[in-house]
Amino acid sequence: MTESRIIVALDYPEAAPALALAERLDPTLCGLKVGKELFVAAGPQLVQGLVHRGYRVFLDLKFHDIPNTVAQACKAAARLGVWMLNVHASGGLTMMRAAREALEALNSRPRLIAVTVLTSLGRQDLAQIGLDIAPEEQVLRLARLTRAAGLDGVVCSAREAGILRRELGQDFLLVTPGIRPAGISADDQQRVLTPIQALHAGADYLVVGRPITRAPDPVAALQSLHDEITTFSGEQT
Ligand code: C5P
Repeated sequence: MTESRIIVALDYPEAAPALALAERLDPTLCGLKVGKELFVAAGPQLVQGLVHRGYRVFLDLKFHDIPNTVAQACKAAARLGVWMLNVHASGGLTMMRAAREALEALNSRPRLIAVTVLTSLGRQDLAQIGLDIAPEEQVLRLARLTRAAGLDGVVCSAREAGILRRELGQDFLLVTPGIRPAGISADDQQRVLTPIQALHAGADYLVVGRPITRAPDPVAALQSLHDEITTFSGEQT
């Protein structure tokens, strides 16, 4: 069976609901994303618990610091058994290379991806921090830098996936949030794509939070998304 492309975002304030959901979902149908809120509240033990239950864990802590600190943080994350982790591309080429080199020294290394421009930042926000550039251009610039540093890919808006796939080639992971199955509320997301639209645009993995975590039946919601994607993938082969 090929690895599932769905990553469920466990955006919870504490361990209990995250573990309760992990108990109900099937690790062959999804990976799980642990972000800053849950990690600060529940820590490495929770991550290890999810890994122990057979899940691929994407540790979404977006490291951004001096190269040595980021490299050591990446190694510490790898020791927890995470499957994927990320850094901020704006930390620079040297920082990203240090992170990659730290992981390469390990026997089995997690995938290492970068965040380019946070989707919460518009042109004016970039200008305020001294970047007189359109967000889309900065995304492309940082994605190229990420590839030059030898990382595996980037987190990007599904709407950027098409251009990044064209510009950066096939061998570069695109991990996309902002996914809403047709007919599901967009919540606070401004620009969403359906899973199939995102896959068409070239996304490799889809990060999906509330459409699964807040569904009346999360198990059924995950299964239905999985079936939709499997049908799409079958049609592509
Ligand atoms: O609930 P929802 O599907 O909107 O959750 C999406 C997840 O992806 C959240 O964990 C959110 O923080 C994350 N994310 C995002 N947009 C980005 C980067 C990350 O929605 N640009």
